[in-house]
Amino acid sequence: MKKNIKNICCIGAGYVGGPTMAVIAKKCPHIQINVVDINKKRIEDWNSEDLASLPIFEPGLGDIIKSCRNKNLHFSTDIKKQIANADMIFISVNTPTKTKGIGAGKASDLKWVESSAREISKYAVGSTIIVEKSTLPVKTALTIKRILESQNNKLNTKSVSQSFAVLSNPEFMSEGSAIKDLENPDRVLIGGEDQEAIKELINIYLNWVDFEKILTTDLWSSELSKLIANAFLAQRISSINSMTALCEKTGADIKNVSLAIGSDKRIGQYFLDSGPGFGGSCFKKDILNLVYICNHYGLDEVSSYWQKVVDINIWQQKRISHIVVDKLFRTVSGKKIAIFGFAFKSNTNDTRESPAISICNDLIEEGSNIYIYDPKVRELQIEKDLGVETNKKYSRNNDDGYWHYSKSIDETIKEADAIIILTGWSEFKKLNYENIFKLMRSPSWIFDARGILDPNHIQSIGFRFWRIGLGNQNVSQYFDMQF
Ligand code: UDX
Ligand code: UDX
Repeated sequence: MKKNIKNICCIGAGYVGGPTMAVIAKKCPHIQINVVDINKKRIEDWNSEDLASLPIFEPGLGDIIKSCRNKNLHFSTDIKKQIANADMIFISVNTPTKTKGIGAGKASDLKWVESSAREISKYAVGSTIIVEKSTLPVKTALTIKRILESQNNKLNTKSVSQSFAVLSNPEFMSEGSAIKDLENPDRVLIGGEDQEAIKELINIYLNWVDFEKILTTDLWSSELSKLIANAFLAQRISSINSMTALCEKTGADIKNVSLAIGSDKRIGQYFLDSGPGFGGSCFKKDILNLVYICNHYGLDEVSSYWQKVVDINIWQQKRISHIVVDKLFRTVSGKKIAIFGFAFKSNTNDTRESPAISICNDLIEEGSNIYIYDPKVRELQIEKDLGVETNKKYSRNNDDGYWHYSKSIDETIKEADAIIILTGWSEFKKLNYENIFKLMRSPSWIFDARGILDPNHIQSIGFRFWRIGLGNQNVSQYFDMQF
């Protein structure tokens, strides 16, 4: 196999491919990195002079792009040429859940991975290491290998010689802290059979990661570990979210509960923030994938166990929209509701599977007029998520139900009946809620689905306030039940 990687190609300039390659470029100035994508506009945005126009917002990403772009980090649509030049190729294309056919709604659609493998088999020259970065169902590496080998068998007639090694190297970074996670990972996981190829990839990571943090396994364990890691993380969120409802009913505070249980080292303090449900491109997709695989192997008990993690997540989102309608005198028709945050979490402009989508859709369905403010999400994206036909200007008497994109907090809250906090952006913590109260219609509600505001302060201003997992301290129901 290849020695001394000098040229890397990454297929897919998305949320994973872009930041991952940026960090490798920063840490390995001796390696040339070419990120390629079929989406011309995306590549133009990566090459944009104005760093605010980069397709992805990630703290710290702009600085790396500024210092490495056009030196050892390049973005282009020239897939054929960059595949041919590469010693190592990362596959970072998207693998969405299938929408039709066998496994629809659960299995991952691997058509982009397959087409990437076919492109590689057509254009690669010499020995090339293929690295799976996309999260994939178990045994996808085998599919990639078969495609590469079948092409290889036909090569007798060609003058080009090719050989491939396939590795799995799942990415564990989370959006919003991607650069930090990539620069200082908890672990790097490499699965594969070809020991020389594994060494080459280890050598790249050794430029900034301690050897002890690099774990090597067989291919399948590596692929499966990624799915299971995401399933465990999502399960934790569904577990704590399921308890928010119990806290609200019985007068406990989920924040106190999180602190108390998280202080036990065996449970740990991380990933215990309750909220409107998990979003993002990975959790739901990966669990559904796991459910599908377990069903396939006849493990029905296992699959229904993990399916519940997704069910609770959907239930939590529905629960929040029901609570809002209920508190606003059981009707939101014609009422103005301010939505604070549309991204699936703070510090990202990504809205994939954001709980805001389903909650906003429910409120539009109920006839409310929602004004959406998010510091990083663009109107065009919200249009894709909620539909262009319900994007209209506000008028109080219109009870058709629609949304409007708002550029400022003031415009969002003016004469609004309620604010719903759906993304935990830090700027929402620092707002002057006394002023906001004056501009809203009475009674003015705040629904804090991220638990970022201080209930005492907000209530002292005069707001009616609901916070996720905060009981109303009326414990009589519990005692009635017990005695
Ligand atoms: C990642 C992972 O790769 C995926 O497996 C994971 O589960 C979700 O996150 P991500 O980087 O977030 O994907 O996806 P996205 O931002 O959609 O980027 C994928 C890119 O691949 C897109 O820019 C798309 O245009 C590109 N692409 C897709 C190609 O260049 N070629 C293709 O054949 C298909
Ligand atoms: C996740 C995994 O964390 C990462 O390892 C994997 O590579 C990709 O998928 P990501 O989806 O980017 O990363 O973000 P993450 O921080 O995990 O948050 C996912 C969702 O869970 C968000 O909607 C977030 O708001 C929510 N969440 C997270 C909570 O509701 N509570 C928490 O305590 C943590």
